[in-house]
Amino acid sequence: MCGIVGYVGPKLAAPILLDGLRRLEYRGYDSAGVALVDGPTITVHKEVGKVAMVQAVVPADAPGHTGIAHTRWATHGGVTQANAHPHTDMELGIAVVHNGIIDNDEALRQRLSAAGVEFRSETDTEVLPHLIRHHYKGDPTQAVIDALKEVRGTYGVVVAFAEHPGVMVAARLGSPLVIGLGEDENFIASDPHALVRYTRRVIYLEDRELATITADGVESVHLDGSEALHTVEELEAAFGTGDKGEFEHYMLKEIHEQPESIGRCLRGRVQPEAGTARLGGFDLLPRDLTEIPSVTIMGCGTSFHAAMLGAMAIEQVARVPARAVIASEFRWSNPQIDPKGLYLAVSQSGETADTLGAIKEVTTKGGKVLGVVNVVGSSIARLCGSGVYIHSGPEVAVASTKAFTSQISAMYLFTLMLGRTLTLAPNEAQHLARSLADLPEMVRAYLGNPGPIQEAVRHLVNARYVLFMGRGLSWPVALEGALKLKELAYIPCEAYAAGEMKHGPIAMMEEGTPVIVIVPSDANRERTLSNMREVQARGAALIVIHSRGDHQAASLAAVSIPVPRVHPLLTPMVTVLPLQLLSYQAALAMGRDIDMPRNLAKSVTVE
Ligand code: F6R
Repeated sequence: MCGIVGYVGPKLAAPILLDGLRRLEYRGYDSAGVALVDGPTITVHKEVGKVAMVQAVVPADAPGHTGIAHTRWATHGGVTQANAHPHTDMELGIAVVHNGIIDNDEALRQRLSAAGVEFRSETDTEVLPHLIRHHYKGDPTQAVIDALKEVRGTYGVVVAFAEHPGVMVAARLGSPLVIGLGEDENFIASDPHALVRYTRRVIYLEDRELATITADGVESVHLDGSEALHTVEELEAAFGTGDKGEFEHYMLKEIHEQPESIGRCLRGRVQPEAGTARLGGFDLLPRDLTEIPSVTIMGCGTSFHAAMLGAMAIEQVARVPARAVIASEFRWSNPQIDPKGLYLAVSQSGETADTLGAIKEVTTKGGKVLGVVNVVGSSIARLCGSGVYIHSGPEVAVASTKAFTSQISAMYLFTLMLGRTLTLAPNEAQHLARSLADLPEMVRAYLGNPGPIQEAVRHLVNARYVLFMGRGLSWPVALEGALKLKELAYIPCEAYAAGEMKHGPIAMMEEGTPVIVIVPSDANRERTLSNMREVQARGAALIVIHSRGDHQAASLAAVSIPVPRVHPLLTPMVTVLPLQLLSYQAALAMGRDIDMPRNLAKSVTVE
């Protein structure tokens, strides 16, 4: 959840660290800090608030050619300057930045306190510099190895030593770290975003590995002392530079990138003439497909909503029993795992701790999991070993938008492949494949003419409560719309399968209550229209997202938002777009921090 950056080389470290922190700020942003190695003690600057607060106190020419930095999302201890990272030992000779959680920090704290250590923060992380100091006998690498042997928990940790300017020691267990290789300089970060401006040549540290990084090179070992071998990887071009471009916010930019991001996910995979898809990463031949007894798709948050759509599509089209499960529930539910079943893990970041936990639960019980992941080289991609990359490109805004539509695209490709093998006639499969191939244009057409979003926003900004409803594939879309509005605008809202509405939530209807209905022209349309009449009769103001030309749906609406007509299976790909814009515009009108909503972080690497 937090971001780490480190630099060693001939340049001044501070500007590079601050630039890296700004790029990682989306991962966590309640406090930030920088430690610079120069002279007999390490200089630490840390502040509560965004990276700009630290930037304001670090002189542009701050000395130090080695440094480590951190942007925090609080887990242990409140949001205070003392709790911000980096943390140091008492002599200011060792500085540490850390992502993850030290489970045995209480026991270590007591032991170190008894030995005379005075703690200055409430964090679990602070035990690390003191513990490393305790083990330090002149060799920085050995001190970190010996200290980590005593630690239970998870870490991506980077350590700097005043006595060894020009050295960073980094270690990983459960929290990602990537080393960037430059010319006579090297970098480390928790996320390649911080590095792309400087280098595209990277080494991903694996769990239980430790690297000693100098300007000249990287030496890595396993924590048991044996040598660790690495291949140098090249960050793909799609990684971009992560800038906002002409847009005011990353979220708006990412919404508008969807024609390209969906296109990247489909390109080379969808085969309209053959009416199928090729997903090399799945490595499943038609014969294998015929033997899949069931599909289970795991994810959290927005990725869970995409998983719901994937499961519905697979079951409806390919007639294979399929379900979506919330990874944070599934992993602790002692689930029954069918070793022949197909398990998919959906994650934008590829770092979500609960999704990683769910994958481990499946594999521990003999199942195999394929990843549907955006971030190349992420922990989930590596743990699964095979799967598909959705190729959204970097998603920086905390609220997920373009990853959602690409996750669905990837699972629809799989649905097509499975359907072509199991159920679909050639002409049906070709129709679906062509419709998929047309999606980027449909999305572009909608975004070019999004309809009366501002008019709908006027109903939302003063609302005490907003209800979203839809049936079938539009139910997960309703859930996603409500999640976006909650996380961005902080408006109380919920989403219901439209048929469930009269089993409870209709009690919330008052004169003018905004109800956002997703009613594309599919098999559920008539039933949803009846539900719309029911809430309208109780005074609700209907904001209706419907297929272009559906005059009946439009006639019930206080605000009518038409979307392009697409294949019924593909309606979520266009109906979610106005919901993304609605939450963006509502948050903007309410003065919210759009790219970094309160209390959230982009990748949730803790349970
Ligand atoms: C919502 C959002 C979150 C994530 C969830 C899973 O806009 O972004 O709900 O979808 O934290 O994250 P990933 O997909 O990275 O596993």
